[in-house]
Amino acid sequence: MIIAIAAIKGGVGKTTLTFCLAATLSQIGKKVLCLDLDHQGDLSAAMGAGKDDSQPSLGQILYAPKRDQAAMLAKGIINIPGYCHLITPGSNLGSFQAEIENGLSSESRLADALTGFNNVYENYDYVLLDTPKGEGLFTKNALVACDNVIIPVQTEYFALKNIPELLELISQIADRANPGISVSAMVPSRMKQTSLHKSIHEQLLEWDVREQLSHQKQQAWIAPPIRDLTIYAELSAQGESLYTYSGVKKEHRAPFVEIAKHLEAMKSNGVHHEVTAVG
Ligand SMILES: Nc1ncnc2c1ncn2[C@@H]1O[C@H](COP(=O)(O)OP(=O)(O)O)[C@@H](O)[C@H]1O
Ligand SMILES: [Mg+2]
Repeated sequence: MIIAIAAIKGGVGKTTLTFCLAATLSQIGKKVLCLDLDHQGDLSAAMGAGKDDSQPSLGQILYAPKRDQAAMLAKGIINIPGYCHLITPGSNLGSFQAEIENGLSSESRLADALTGFNNVYENYDYVLLDTPKGEGLFTKNALVACDNVIIPVQTEYFALKNIPELLELISQIADRANPGISVSAMVPSRMKQTSLHKSIHEQLLEWDVREQLSHQKQQAWIAPPIRDLTIYAELSAQGESLYTYSGVKKEHRAPFVEIAKHLEAMKSNGVHHEVTAVG
């Protein structure tokens, strides 16, 4: 299953969700590949890797001719013990953007690479795509390449306002490039124990993504909220995971365990499609 973690808005917890979910999936014995599509390399840093540790980097892989992409992808994979396999963005990911946009099929470069890499579904139970903020090229590449989208939603008024924008983009991607794309979960993130946060959480529970996504059959699942707690920020700062850092309690892991269970249930119900050749 290829999952894009996307939100348009920055600072809502996309990267934190990605590395905590990767650690949880790996803890239950799943094979996970993470791709860090943000030039800032926050996901890589949280896992103790530098932006340029993958050789070739994601930027180079996306820029390369289609015939070379799969082999380069296999070569760029690095192993992060206790977590997953990872491909880092490369410090020049941003400078590849204009070059890729000037070329053809700029939005399906990642889909091409993953489709050509035909072991992706054999070798990995999950591929997690951590996206940058905004609706730019690398977010679009993730949405074109994925089966499912998980949307972290900070329980703040402005974060909720961004959801229709993201759903509109997903709807266009479904029409043009990836008809099987489905929003499988929304994750209330950085939730504080205030009445404003609670009321935003309630609005989220009532949100029916199918109003914006005419192609989608099932309502998106709303995950249990991830609370706003310094322990989550400490993990990336310390380079520790949910399963190695002292002070992490069962309740801190609980939302991620529930998300992992939900994904496993979706898999056994066959609620995802395997990517077939794109383009
Ligand atoms: N649940 C949380 N509680 C407290 N801090 C968090 C939480 N989730 C993320 N953060 C912190 O907020 C900042 C942005 O989170 P991050 O996951 O990098 O968001 P994004 O990838 O969407 O930009 C980081 O400093 C991170 O450590
Ligand atoms: Mg991030």
